[in-house]
Amino acid sequence: MPEKSHHKRILVIHGPNLNMLGKREPAIYGHESLAEIDARLQERGQELGIDVETFQSNHEGALVDKIQQAVGIFHGVVINPAAYTHTSAAIRDALAMLDIPIVEIHLSNIYRREPFRHTSMIADIVAARIAGFGSYGYLLALEGLAKMIKT
Ligand code: DQA
Repeated sequence: MPEKSHHKRILVIHGPNLNMLGKREPAIYGHESLAEIDARLQERGQELGIDVETFQSNHEGALVDKIQQAVGIFHGVVINPAAYTHTSAAIRDALAMLDIPIVEIHLSNIYRREPFRHTSMIADIVAARIAGFGSYGYLLALEGLAKMIKT
């Protein structure tokens, strides 16, 4: 990320097991790797004039730390909390501290799957949600959020 850039900054956070994309249940999550998704986000960010930082962790505390560090640095957050979507009060509380728009994204349509995936701990604190478009959902989330923070 260029230090003196006047671009708006968006943080994209990927939760647990998303580092295995491409190999992980491809019928549900697709064949694209996380590195490929992140590269496409960087590319689209450049086109939109937005600085994009991506971050993945399998650890709830590391995700909380990263969200806390976003305060005052980023103008918006895109997050796929993965399985922590359904369980983590800690991630919800960290996100609730941010006074910037947050977009929740899921590759799969979580409402079409097992009942435990129908609950999101963050649904009521995010600005917008995307689910079911596969990896393309990340680009939709970035574009929507870019528009939100530019106007
Ligand atoms: C997911 C859906 C979650 O239920 C699951 O635990 C994931 C990925 C998705 O992107 O579809 O790891 O967030």
